[in-house]
Amino acid sequence: MSSTVISNIATLVTNDPSLRDDSPLGLVRDAAVVIEGDRVVWTGESRKAPATDNRVDAGGRAVLPGFVDSHSHLVFAGDRTEEFNARMSGRAYGAGGIRTTVAATRAAADAELEANLVRLLDEALRQGTTTFETKSGYGLTVEDEARALRLAARHTDEVTYLGAHVVAPEYAEDPAGYVALVTGEMLDACAPHARWIDVFCEEGAFDGDQARAILTAGKARGLHPRVHANQLSYGPGVRLAVELDAASADHCTHLTDADVDALAGGNTVATLLPGAEFSTRAEWPDARRLLDAGVTVALSTDCNPGSSFTSSVPFCVALAVRDMGMTPDEAVRAATAGGAAALRRDDIGRLAPGAYADLTLLDAPSHVHLAYRPGVPLVAGVWRRGVRRV
Ligand code: NIG
Ligand code: FE
Repeated sequence: MSSTVISNIATLVTNDPSLRDDSPLGLVRDAAVVIEGDRVVWTGESRKAPATDNRVDAGGRAVLPGFVDSHSHLVFAGDRTEEFNARMSGRAYGAGGIRTTVAATRAAADAELEANLVRLLDEALRQGTTTFETKSGYGLTVEDEARALRLAARHTDEVTYLGAHVVAPEYAEDPAGYVALVTGEMLDACAPHARWIDVFCEEGAFDGDQARAILTAGKARGLHPRVHANQLSYGPGVRLAVELDAASADHCTHLTDADVDALAGGNTVATLLPGAEFSTRAEWPDARRLLDAGVTVALSTDCNPGSSFTSSVPFCVALAVRDMGMTPDEAVRAATAGGAAALRRDDIGRLAPGAYADLTLLDAPSHVHLAYRPGVPLVAGVWRRGVRRV
């Protein structure tokens, strides 16, 4: 197996807890990383790096773990430019817009859906994302949900069944019938293609009892829960997520003290999605409050055509630092190790021997520039599973 050293790294973010430094990032200055096959085999100071077959000069720039985008909705057709435009003139965002994308997605051929997915994945890769989770939820029939998951599973292992995104239009008068479908025939068709089950627990989507029934049925089929919780209003989603040991409660924009206490006392990561608040002109989630309470926080894009049409984790990092009370170190950690925790993975989101060689090289001397230089395309190189892709 051939080995490669990436050396002359001004700032290396490892997220390796065994390296004590004064930041949560396990920083190494004047560093090197050695890759063998698809794994990291060594990290440390450049001058101590072992001999390798190949050598890459990082040119005094920063290297960090590839971003882990643990929340996206990439299997869809059409866009919602007009809805965004109207919102920017004052119209409110609501769950109902999802149905616009459902109609376009149902009408699309597999090849069109997959081409759109691949285009967005490529966009994300060029911005440093090396792992992404993605969901169904714009099909809302047995066939269309299973199709979305089949297509997604060709491109990632982190596939989430979100038949419970909103009640399908055909069931507008019979939400209980739709929940029965989601927990019955649709679950049967979807479970083989997914790792996770998700529900949009919100006014206009599914209430706490419905969400509990859906997640419990998924768990019984071996799917692990994650929850769209407390995005547009206060509600039971976050506490339900913790109670069911969901890997993540996502959005967390409207939190009571009881919600924060529940997160702090459980194993559920709070995944914050500032692209959604940006694009819906909503109030920001309070990352500072969660971090101060000891909650593990992840940052992801929520890339979808309605509430957050960005594939850029660097953009989300910049928003989180500017508007959500996070330090640059905390935001970068949330977008790497935090995302890995939200997917219950320890082989990604960090650069230490044994982890996957998923790395991002920045055209900047440190990771802080992701927030300091917002909107600038700083990603200069991306390795995924040890292979240079950008
Ligand atoms: O995470 N909140 C629910 N689902 C998406 C929005 C989907 C849409 O508007 O199409 C979200 O923001
Ligand atoms: Fe979402």
